[in-house]
This record gives sequence, structure tokens and C-alpha cells, in this order.
Amino acid sequence: MKLLGISGSLRRASFNTALLHAAAELAPAGTELAIHDLHDLPLFDQDVEEQGDPAAVVALKDAIAAADALLLASPEYNGGITGVLKNAIDWASRKGLSREVAPLTGKRVCIIGASPGITGTVRAQDALRLVLRRAGAIAEPQGEVLVFQAHTKIAEGKLVDERTREALGRHLQNFIALVERAS
Ligand code: FNR
Repeated sequence: MKLLGISGSLRRASFNTALLHAAAELAPAGTELAIHDLHDLPLFDQDVEEQGDPAAVVALKDAIAAADALLLASPEYNGGITGVLKNAIDWASRKGLSREVAPLTGKRVCIIGASPGITGTVRAQDALRLVLRRAGAIAEPQGEVLVFQAHTKIAEGKLVDERTREALGRHLQNFIALVERAS
């Protein structure tokens, strides 16, 4: 099982990127998690798309297409998802000039998120589910991992809170079981 992890934060000390690294440790045996970096992804521009996808877009789309499923770690900005993540979804929701299907079409996606606040990205996760549905992807499972007060649970890039580690491990297990059942 090949999972592709994407963080909606470009911040060096991002809690959400740290959550992806924890997921790599906690994923069920037989699951590989590769993390795709969005630093080089240009802003979506339909004029650029009409000339052919830039290299960073091709790399993102190829990585999504090659993955069995996605793991998105979403921060919450102003009650929604970050521009960084929305931009990646916008590119990946499109076929571009050279593909028969958009990489996100029918792709199963697991959502996780961390914030220093007390709601732990619940609003961003709801918003992300809606965006993914519109993009033709399938967000699963129904349950949520909401890492609230993340600064008390993530230290030096490591998820150290035991209950959160257990919850994340269970969430990933449920997700992988759904992906396996669907394939
Ligand atoms: C935030 N933050 C934030 N947190 C939250 O729980 N709800 C929110 O609506 C917002 N809004 C918001 C807007 C903007 C522009 C910024 C920069 C930040 C705080 C946010 O959760 C915090 O910066 C996290 O640390 C961001 O995630 P990473 O970078 O640690 O992964």
C-alpha cells in the first residue's frame, strides 16, 4: 500500500508536517508513506495550464496518480484550508493537456490536522471534505483526528502525546482497511 502524504503548511516547524512524519511511523505494517513537498508548486493559472503543466505540477500529479491513496495534513487558516493546500488540490483536480483523468478523480483521501487552538482544525477539515468532494475525490473514514493544542503534543517535530499517537494509528488503520476493501 503506497500512501502519499501532503502537508498544507510550508512552515519549517509545521505541526501538520510533524503529524505526517508521525503517521509514517504509525501506519499499519505494509504501508509506505512518501511525503510530497509543495514549496515549488506555482500558483494555479489557467493560462499556464493551457501551455502545459510546469515541472512541479507534473511531479505532484505523477505522485498522486502513482499512490494508492492520499494522506492530507491540513492546518486551519481563518476557519478554512490553507491557500497552499487548496492550490495543490486545484492543480490535481485537472487533467491538464496530457492526461485522460485528473489525478484526484476517485482517489481515496485521509484527512488529519493539528492546530495550537482548542478546535484542532475541525472547521478546516469540514471545508476540506467539501472541496475534495467537488474535486471528485473520496474523503474517508468518517471519524476525525483533531490534534488540538498541538504545541503541547508535538515537540521538536515529534508527536509525543500517547493518546494522540493511538488515535492517529487507529485512524490510519481504519482508512487503510477501507482502501483495501475498495481495491
Ligand atoms: C492561523 N491559525 C489558526 N488556527 C486555528 O485553529 N483556526 C484558525 O482559523 C486559524 N487561522 C489562522 C490564520 C492564519 C493566516 C495563520 C497564519 C494561522 C493558527 C494555526 O493553526 C497555526 O499557525 C498552526 O501552527 C499552523 O499549522 P502548521 O504550520 O503548524 O502546520
